[in-house]
Amino acid sequence: MGKEAASAFGRWFALKDFPVQVQLTAVCDIDQQALSWYKQISSVSLLTTDYKELIHSDLVDVVYIAVPHHMHESLYIDILQAGKDLLGEKPFGIDLAAARRIANVANQEGRFARCSSEMPFFPGPQRVVSEVKSGRLGRIIEIKAGFLHASDMNPNKPINWKRQSAYCGEIGVMGDLGIHALHIPLRLGWKPQSLYAHLQKIITERPDGKGGMASADTWNNATLSTRVQMENGETVPMLLEMKRLAPGETNTWFIEVLGTEGGIRYSTKDVKALWTYNWNDGKEQSWQRVDLGFEVPFPTVTGGIFEPGFPDVFQQMLAAYFAEREGQLAGRFGCVTLEEAIASHEVFAAALESHANNKTVVLEQEVAVN
Ligand SMILES: NC(=O)c1ccc[n+]([C@@H]2O[C@H](COP(=O)([O-])OP(=O)(O)OC[C@H]3O[C@@H](n4cnc5c(N)ncnc54)[C@H](O)[C@@H]3O)[C@@H](O)[C@H]2O)c1
Repeated sequence: MGKEAASAFGRWFALKDFPVQVQLTAVCDIDQQALSWYKQISSVSLLTTDYKELIHSDLVDVVYIAVPHHMHESLYIDILQAGKDLLGEKPFGIDLAAARRIANVANQEGRFARCSSEMPFFPGPQRVVSEVKSGRLGRIIEIKAGFLHASDMNPNKPINWKRQSAYCGEIGVMGDLGIHALHIPLRLGWKPQSLYAHLQKIITERPDGKGGMASADTWNNATLSTRVQMENGETVPMLLEMKRLAPGETNTWFIEVLGTEGGIRYSTKDVKALWTYNWNDGKEQSWQRVDLGFEVPFPTVTGGIFEPGFPDVFQQMLAAYFAEREGQLAGRFGCVTLEEAIASHEVFAAALESHANNKTVVLEQEVAVN
């Protein structure tokens, strides 16, 4: 993901009239081979294997960090205590306690800190948000959101840190894909009141790369049936799916919101297609497809008819981070806040408890960050 960020910074000039100039000036990786890739970037004047050198460098104001989950807490806290602002990769701490400690330090130090989640910056999800906010859907009936991968369908794929709880976290797939599914629901105020979780470990060992097998002990798939309270006091079901073994799904992020007067549905599987439901006074109901163009929150040189991809929305997320840091978000969609990162972890912790005890778990509604 470090390379993905470097690529987005490398074409910062593509953003039109953006208020902040951002340059990649310093890179750290303990792996020399990974580090040497960044030599080709002319704006980078510090390459180091020691992150302490980077976080204490005057070349650096903001750190984007993408490391395995068991390192999030100590590195994120060191960055914040070094006086730098932070864009930390998800899940923003290996578990709920770690996320809370990171958030507390960010607040104590008065740093601007956000968590990475880029998928809502596609034009489709942005239209879902505005449609919900418009009230045109009427009373909400139900919500579905999720993120599906088939990356682990191949049982011969060798083990790596993402398939081991010690490094990925006990929350497993929820730590990988969960914040992506929850970013928009949480932003719309849809934090589950309660949930029932079904977690699955489907492939439990993988080749260790040395001729043997290693334990792959993370949850592969998570299906969370949750209950969400709407502004009008009604509760509705929200189904959340986060799966590494979803046959046929390469990187499918989706959301669907159905209401009494309308509905809206978007999936990255068909990246341009936004589906809206029309009730037509009950005469001939229809789902209508609109092909979306490049209607991103932060305009770029790319023409409106073209379709966006992952590198584009990653750059949009970075733009949202820097715009918000400058106080220039101007009502546009922002990155995952500390409160939202903690709320996502509360959902994941409740899911572990629910699955372990085969019962519904009630979540606290207030998020404690001091
Ligand atoms: N936003 C997204 O869509 C997205 C996608 C993939 C991964 N991620 C997140 O990004 C993070 C990293 O995932 P990844 O897929 O890039 O992992 P990765 O294993 O490909 O890369 C991690 C890098 O961190 C380096 N590293 C490890 N310890 C280090 C240290 N002490 N100092 C400096 N460098 C160190 C490794 O050498 C490696 O190059 C995770 O939090 C993951 O959840 C986010």
